[in-house]
Amino acid sequence: MSIQEEVQKRKTFAIISHPDAGKTTMTEKLLLYGNLIRSAGTVKGKKSGKFATSDWMEIEKQRGISVTSSVMNFEYEGFHINILDTPGHEDFSEDTYRTLTAVDSVVMIIDSTKGIEAQTIKLFKVCRMRGIPIFTFMNKLDREGKEPLALLEELEEVLEIDTYPMNWPAGMGKGFLGIFDRENEQFVQHHPGAEESYIPYKELENHPELTENGTYQDAVNELELVEEAGNTYSEEAILNGELTPVFFGSALSPFGVQTFFDSFIRLAPSPTPRKSTKGAVKPEEEDFSGFIFKIQANMNPAHRDRIAFLRVCSGKFTRGMSVALARTGKELKLAQSQQMVASSRETIEEAYAGDIIGIYDPNAYQIGDTLLTGKEKYEFDELPQFPPEIFKKVMAKNALKSKQFRKGIEQLVQEGAIQLFRDKLTDSFILGAVGELQYQVFTYRMENEYNAEVIMEPIGERIPRWLNPEQADASLFDSGNLLVRDRHDQPLVLFRNEFALNWFKDKNPDIELIDLFETNNYQ
Ligand code: G4P
Repeated sequence: MSIQEEVQKRKTFAIISHPDAGKTTMTEKLLLYGNLIRSAGTVKGKKSGKFATSDWMEIEKQRGISVTSSVMNFEYEGFHINILDTPGHEDFSEDTYRTLTAVDSVVMIIDSTKGIEAQTIKLFKVCRMRGIPIFTFMNKLDREGKEPLALLEELEEVLEIDTYPMNWPAGMGKGFLGIFDRENEQFVQHHPGAEESYIPYKELENHPELTENGTYQDAVNELELVEEAGNTYSEEAILNGELTPVFFGSALSPFGVQTFFDSFIRLAPSPTPRKSTKGAVKPEEEDFSGFIFKIQANMNPAHRDRIAFLRVCSGKFTRGMSVALARTGKELKLAQSQQMVASSRETIEEAYAGDIIGIYDPNAYQIGDTLLTGKEKYEFDELPQFPPEIFKKVMAKNALKSKQFRKGIEQLVQEGAIQLFRDKLTDSFILGAVGELQYQVFTYRMENEYNAEVIMEPIGERIPRWLNPEQADASLFDSGNLLVRDRHDQPLVLFRNEFALNWFKDKNPDIELIDLFETNNYQ
């Protein structure tokens, strides 16, 4: 098979959701379709104490969670599917955001009884801003939930994205009859406890027991409304991430999952070109290229190894190949390469653009590094920096260990485990993270890997705003709103709260305040 054919076969996506919306249940169903697992219940939920993917780090074992995102892959209907797992809110970290740089689309699962939940809005927004195609699955239709029209409206308002319902539900909860599958022009009938059945639109007249039901008729009226007043279907808008196709169903039953997945596979993009310093890099180019979006240290405590997760962007990877690390020009041999499948690591011999592989890291890589073969030298666009929300001052517990302390911080920051800021006045160390878990991992690793115990002093949730360096005048900021610099020496202010931010804006209308979430940093 040619590289181009291999690339066309690939669908690489992440499933994102608020905890308990049904991500694990959905993943499990997809793995069943892919024959990767044989029975439901193999992918363990958090509550059973074991997690689906890994217990690499002690901290994972202690908390029974998956700190690391893992990758699952399987063949389905002639396609090669790569699913990247992303941790939920409590376990949220920058890794979760970065995972989104390595996928070509996302499946967003929403609990239809709850709608869009606050904590996940940012994650969804990052997808939206990056222009990643988003496919929405409104889950738990077997329970009484919000009205479908209200759910669509919420989605459009909160995420500023157009919606197109691919199917339309008739009823919900106990009165759930099934869905109108608009694409295949059929009614998918729900039979509690049994498999779904399909009635083509043309044959519906032969089913008065269904069509005379009031719930069914209400749904027909709603569907008419959606057809008249709703958005127009556009595959182009889907691929640009401007329109999300919405599927209603139940991952648990399962109901509507197969039709969802079939449509998803058809519509989701195969790997697309990636931006670099030489311009767009096409996935079917002969020369291999890829970038590192995540580094995980100490997956195996016995070996103290580090694994770098690489997204292949062009060409073909073969085990043992030599590549150049674009940042340093150094040649490296990719001898140990692994694929993360559920709890095991399998050696992988070859991979193509779109695939994600784990490679052994001899302490050479940084997040965002480009690996290449071929004569042309270039680097992929830098990974975006995500604005942290929780900040803490950090000091070495034992002043005599300041050397270990600095080394640990330097390495963990370089690895992307946490962000470091320095106070403009005192030069003290301030850490920033998007999730509390990052601090737990940081503390644990400082102690265990660098023998440097730390003391942390919370300075609370802050609102970071980057400044134009010429306007970073310390006299403008009182001590409550910290003026700091990031590791690229760019100045920013950590505002105490929304009130302080607005007050400052009113007083200093000429000072430009940059919100990383609003800039095109994500593009
Ligand atoms: P998560 O990975 O997004 O955190 O969610 P997960 O799949 O673990 O699902 C959370 C809970 O919601 C689970 O129930 C699961 O069975 C349930 N669930 C998932 N999909 C559906 C659905 O379509 N309908 C209904 N009614 N429930 C659904 P649990 O009781 O919290 O855990 P468990 O003991 O069943 O594993």
